[in-house]
Amino acid sequence: MARVVLGMLGLGTVGTGVVELLSKHRHLTLKKVAVKSLDKERSATPNCPLTTDVEEIINDPEIEVLVEVMGGENPTVSYLERAIKKRKHIVTANKEVLAKHGPRLFALAKEHGVAIFFEASVAGGIPLLSTIHKGLEANEIESVTGILNGTTNFILSNMEAGNSYAAALKEAQELGFAEADPTADVDGFDVAYKLSVLAALAFGHFVKPETIYKEGIRNITEEDMALAKEFGYRIKLLGTAARGSNTGSSGSTGSSGNTGFDVRVHPTLVPLDHPLASVSGPNNGILVRGHAVGQLTLIGPGAGKMPTASAVVGDLMNLAGALKLPDFASYFQPAIDASPASAVPPLAWKCPFYLRLVVKDTPGVIGKIGNIFGTHNISISTIIQRGVEGKEATVVIMTHDVLGKDMDAALDELKKCDFLSSLGNAIRIFRSA
Ligand SMILES: NC(=O)c1ccc[n+]([C@@H]2O[C@H](COP(=O)([O-])OP(=O)(O)OC[C@H]3O[C@@H](n4cnc5c(N)ncnc54)[C@H](OP(=O)(O)O)[C@@H]3O)[C@@H](O)[C@H]2O)c1
Repeated sequence: MARVVLGMLGLGTVGTGVVELLSKHRHLTLKKVAVKSLDKERSATPNCPLTTDVEEIINDPEIEVLVEVMGGENPTVSYLERAIKKRKHIVTANKEVLAKHGPRLFALAKEHGVAIFFEASVAGGIPLLSTIHKGLEANEIESVTGILNGTTNFILSNMEAGNSYAAALKEAQELGFAEADPTADVDGFDVAYKLSVLAALAFGHFVKPETIYKEGIRNITEEDMALAKEFGYRIKLLGTAARGSNTGSSGSTGSSGNTGFDVRVHPTLVPLDHPLASVSGPNNGILVRGHAVGQLTLIGPGAGKMPTASAVVGDLMNLAGALKLPDFASYFQPAIDASPASAVPPLAWKCPFYLRLVVKDTPGVIGKIGNIFGTHNISISTIIQRGVEGKEATVVIMTHDVLGKDMDAALDELKKCDFLSSLGNAIRIFRSA
């Protein structure tokens, strides 16, 4: 195989793994690696110079491929743009920069005849993107749903043992599964970026991350975990990207004028016997539904040094193998529209709900709740009350399918009622996208 010269931005968790794997692939020659600090102690150093001057890589005409594993939006996006303009192919693990700037980067790559490979940006070591892009090429992808964030899955798995959210987060941070600032993971931003990238591949449009409904896991309590289990469920943070909204229409018009897709991230009660319920710890699990193949389930390590490096180096090997083919970039590049789409707002989705309400233990409360739900088209499948007479009680309700707007209206009305001490939680129950 012909020798391919690479430059890399970043030598952190993923970059170090890439260096390790590249040592076994002599035809992939790493010429230079850019880092932030030359003084940092490193667990592994590549067999090539390090630099803090990214321009040395971008302006080097011998470097054909830029491996971007430094992360973040800025200044990364400008480095990628300039490298593309210098006709370098890109291999990146960066979902944030793709979700926010993907349409422009892909258009620029097309203009300059280069390819962007991005397997590592979603689901780490699981070959999810190549499965959708190449393995399922004969299909119209209908939906991609799953556990796309290992940090939150680790925290939720840990809470099942009775730990609080705070204790589970602390342990995740101590074990290196969560950042010191966990916001991107626990508030759903990381999953939203990944869904935008998945939508680009599955539906041909990036979805603007700011339009994606995001609900994280901060409000999940040990009590919710225990109640879910009692009712035959496990709580998971699920991301969904579906072609049409689950109201049954085949897509709706977003504010951009493009088709709006059903793209969202929120905690979900998953039945214990469902394949996603068995995905534990920092793993990822994804269901892909194609019109011809039906449903596939992929489960495996969604992050970490070597699984993510496996995806990056897999991309490099694919790229190197095909680089000299005529019209190589257009063969490999998925057809992605230059204008991003919007996600449909949550008010139009339909799914069952789990509700935990804390109420004053006075006569007639259950009837009043039933009346409010009835006026908002909400049909209750199960309702139980627990508590000490004369004090507060916990009411747990499972509903049949409800439109998001009806549930919002019912909760708004409930919040005004004297009998409600607090709205414990309202969590969606899994429904196939
Ligand atoms: N970690 C994972 O499990 C995982 C999984 C999937 C995808 N990803 C993605 O992979 C990318 C890298 O993640 P990571 O965990 O490896 O990050 P990381 O450990 O924080 O490493 C970042 C690297 O980039 C370098 N860097 C930062 N800013 C720079 C700048 N302005 N110029 C030059 N170098 C700079 C840092 O240099 P110093 O070493 O000098 O500080 C460091 O080597 C991110 O996009 C992330 O989302 C990570």
